Amino acid sequence: MKITIDAIGKQFEACSTKFHSAFTTEVNKKKTYDIKHWASKNMKADFERLRPSKEYDASKDYEFTLNDEAGTVIRILGLGEKKNLDAEKLRRTFSKAFKIAKASGTDKIGFMLDSFKLKTDLAKTLSIIVEAIELSNYTFDKYKSKAVKTNLNEVVILVSDKKSVKKFEQIIQSTQNVCESVNIARDLVNEAPNVLHSEEYSKRIQADVKKNLKGVKVKVLGEKELLKENCNLFLSVNAGSAFEAQLVHLEYNPKKSTKKTKHVALVGKGLTFDTGGYSLKPGASMMGMKFDMGGSATVYAAFRAAVLNGSPYKISCFLGMTDNMVSELATTPDSIVTARNGKTVEILNTDAEGRLVLADVLSYASDTKPDVMFDAATLTGACLVALGDEVCAILGNDEKTINDVKKSAKSTDELVWELPIIPEFREQMKSSVADLKNIGKPGKAGTATAAAFLEEFVGEGIKWVHFDVAGTCGPQAHLPYCPEVGCSGLIIRTMYNYLT
Ligand code: BES
Ligand code: ZN
Ligand code: ZN
Repeated sequence: MKITIDAIGKQFEACSTKFHSAFTTEVNKKKTYDIKHWASKNMKADFERLRPSKEYDASKDYEFTLNDEAGTVIRILGLGEKKNLDAEKLRRTFSKAFKIAKASGTDKIGFMLDSFKLKTDLAKTLSIIVEAIELSNYTFDKYKSKAVKTNLNEVVILVSDKKSVKKFEQIIQSTQNVCESVNIARDLVNEAPNVLHSEEYSKRIQADVKKNLKGVKVKVLGEKELLKENCNLFLSVNAGSAFEAQLVHLEYNPKKSTKKTKHVALVGKGLTFDTGGYSLKPGASMMGMKFDMGGSATVYAAFRAAVLNGSPYKISCFLGMTDNMVSELATTPDSIVTARNGKTVEILNTDAEGRLVLADVLSYASDTKPDVMFDAATLTGACLVALGDEVCAILGNDEKTINDVKKSAKSTDELVWELPIIPEFREQMKSSVADLKNIGKPGKAGTATAAAFLEEFVGEGIKWVHFDVAGTCGPQAHLPYCPEVGCSGLIIRTMYNYLT
């Protein structure tokens, strides 16, 4: 979306829809409304005349629409009490309002930034509104013969502070970089699995890096290279596939890089489709398994946004891509396979495949000696049982890093919750015939036992956090800035925030 800062008011004047904020206030112990920054005196008079008189008190989500003398649509957004307005409320209210305006056929919307100000932070207010616009504007309609057309092509933001125009423009650009990355992840996850198999996925990432991420080093390991690297667990998942497994390795180095520069590695599960393999999923559970590359799309998008916005850290990104199919070559339950790091694994359930791919990729990534390593994966159905669709499970081996992730999530209004890895869970993952087995006790702490398995492949001394995005990656119908169907793009902003 074209988003323009206007310090003079000329472009704002030309908008066909204008948003105003209204806050609840109290006068003589009676609730009423408070609207500042009216665009004109006449409009204020019109509103006074048209509002449902005493009942209008600007409660949250109460919208009021009128036309001014020039025919401009004035939409007044009730935001409740000013002291209670927080970033997430503003993000949600603005997203709803934006979508209604878009559906109304208007071509240019405008609003005065100062009137939506969060506490004293105008810069944060601006980035929240840009997020609301860009995240709500997303649609996945490439397969619709008749896509819904929209006229809306510009948002004008009127500001009073002429001196800050440059700064505001930079905030718009950096927020758009983040949202564009979120939307690219959504596109990849929503893409059909007959189109986006491992080889196509790998090509799309390489093309995006080449086009948009100048200076990022790219290395791609196919079957031959993975064999050479002893990534036998990864290859065991790929054994039934018609497509080559791909390990895409990206490396970003900041401009001012020294020996002390922090190095963060990001690892993602990229299962372009998960049938379960020989431990075949029932039909109903198989539906939606194109989302099983959501973890890799999440880390790629966070990496992409961090690179575009000049992160001060060295960041390496590792995407493990394959599908999990059935064929006469596919791995059978009871197989015993030696991992890249030498540990032997008894594969008792071929549907617990994500951890097998991640095991080798975590081991490969560990060799680049990162200080911190994150992995994201749609790893367990148990995560949905424990935390629902709305909350991302995090587990790891370092309290401070976990706390930093929690802080990052809080400041982006995304939800994470820590689950424990206890010695008993590690014990459960030991096999009677090999070093490890790939499943724990059925129906018990499945998210944490999966993490206990992954921990075995994290290099010595590396601070590691695992994000189970099985629930959060999917639709979030309650969030107006997420599409009603398809990938949410959640958790990317949390990771990005940590990386900058
Ligand atoms: N991709 C699934 C996890 C999943 C399930 C993600 C539902 C999103 C929604 C994963 O590969 C899987 O099948 N895990 C198994 C593990 C079990 C066999 C130990 C599961 O969760 O049932
Ligand atoms: Zn599976
Ligand atoms: Zn899976």
